[in-house]
Amino acid sequence: MKKLSKNVLFTCLLIIFSLFSSSHAQNCTNNPLLTNNIYKACNNLPTLNSFVHWNYHQSNHTVEIAYRHIGVTTSNWIAWCLNPSGGGMIGSQCLIAYPNSTGLLHPYTSPITSYATNLEEGPLSFRVSKIGAEFNNNEMIIYATLELPNGTTRFTQVWQYGPVSGDALQMHSMDRDNMRSIATIDFATARASDTVTATTTKLGSRNRKKNVHGVLNVVSWGILMPVGAMAARYLKVFKSANSAWFYIHVTCQSSAYIVGVAGFATGMKLGSKSPGVIHTTHKNIGITLAVLGTLQAFAILLRPKPDHKYRKYWNVYHQVMGYNVLILSIINIMDGLDILDPGKKWKRGYIGVLIFLGSIVVLLEAFTWYFVIKRKWQSARTLNESSSA
Ligand SMILES: *[C@@H]1O[C@H](CO)[C@@H](O)[C@H](O)[C@H]1NC(C)=O
Ligand SMILES: *[C@@H]1O[C@H](CO)[C@@H](O)[C@H](O)[C@H]1NC(C)=O
Ligand SMILES: *[C@@H]1O[C@H](CO)[C@@H](O)[C@H](O)[C@H]1NC(C)=O
Ligand SMILES: *[C@@H]1O[C@H](CO)[C@@H](O)[C@H](O)[C@H]1NC(C)=O
Repeated sequence: MKKLSKNVLFTCLLIIFSLFSSSHAQNCTNNPLLTNNIYKACNNLPTLNSFVHWNYHQSNHTVEIAYRHIGVTTSNWIAWCLNPSGGGMIGSQCLIAYPNSTGLLHPYTSPITSYATNLEEGPLSFRVSKIGAEFNNNEMIIYATLELPNGTTRFTQVWQYGPVSGDALQMHSMDRDNMRSIATIDFATARASDTVTATTTKLGSRNRKKNVHGVLNVVSWGILMPVGAMAARYLKVFKSANSAWFYIHVTCQSSAYIVGVAGFATGMKLGSKSPGVIHTTHKNIGITLAVLGTLQAFAILLRPKPDHKYRKYWNVYHQVMGYNVLILSIINIMDGLDILDPGKKWKRGYIGVLIFLGSIVVLLEAFTWYFVIKRKWQSARTLNESSSA
């Protein structure tokens, strides 16, 4: 048991350390093509290797944009859009670029009114006074000057890329990253010359919050709770661990619940701070878990005495709820690791922890059956002996 808790602790520390030390390889400052540096602000977009650099003029409410998409080829189109109506793809006012059949990079504007769009050329709902594009070293850039719609500097932005054949722009893939390429942008937040660092620190602190959210939930729902459940299931059969199992179980589950609630709170806060990015399933499972976890905590306080006639129903209820919590936790952690995307190895790390716990479960399950059957057999024999005596 000591060795087990030591191993679990070690794995926890490993995960915590790895989540904190993970960082993005690309950032806003390593932009070899934007050498003239007229762009005072930059946003490292959360998906699709994309960056938006800009320079906002308050006097005439215009903004100069450079949208960079890294890792594309000459048979790709790229798009960056503002959606003044606040929605996703429909209503987006897009800047598009692709290498056309003459071999030249063709930048143009396209308003999107339907999901069946072929990204046809057309005027946007606001004026675009300049547009250009550049392709170099697997990196495509769109340059444009936008006269922003009146009244606001805060918009929903959408970005995307897809394949081109000849002059036909084809539909983008429906991969997770392509479906998550939506966020908010506030052109006014970065105006002074030192704002590049201002936005990157802001992004850094947001990433740190996401990592804290991830670590709290992996440690509580993902590791402590399964260990607490294992203590209840497997230590109970050993007579010598008669009340020890109960204290281990309660300690694990109550600390997991406390840390888990903190993790849940950080998740709700993250969700409320990024209205453009919505992870509905992850959020709903999170809320369900918080409710089930709270019911479990209440169930402990309201449990009938061990010899009460309803106690066996309570046991079934508590265990069924517990197993549901475990399964939902693992599903949501996997989903969360995809959203947080700290790199494949962290997801593999957690799968490693699950395999480790899983093999302990298999071993202990075998032991338990062995003990239970042996005990039954022994008591049957003593019963036989006493009845024949
Ligand atoms: C951004 O990338 C450049 C070049 O790769 C690197 O020198 C710099 O330290 C990076 N900055 C951050 C904040 O990661
Ligand atoms: C907007 O104003 C800035 C200076 O404040 C100027 O450099 C820029 O050319 C103007 N843009 C347009 C489209 O008028
Ligand atoms: C290809 O792009 C160039 C540059 O934008 C443009 O002048 C030309 O008309 C485009 N040709 C076709 C067939 O779209
Ligand atoms: C924005 O305001 C100016 C005057 O302040 C007006 O001329 C223009 O039509 C307005 N544009 C929109 C899109 O409302």
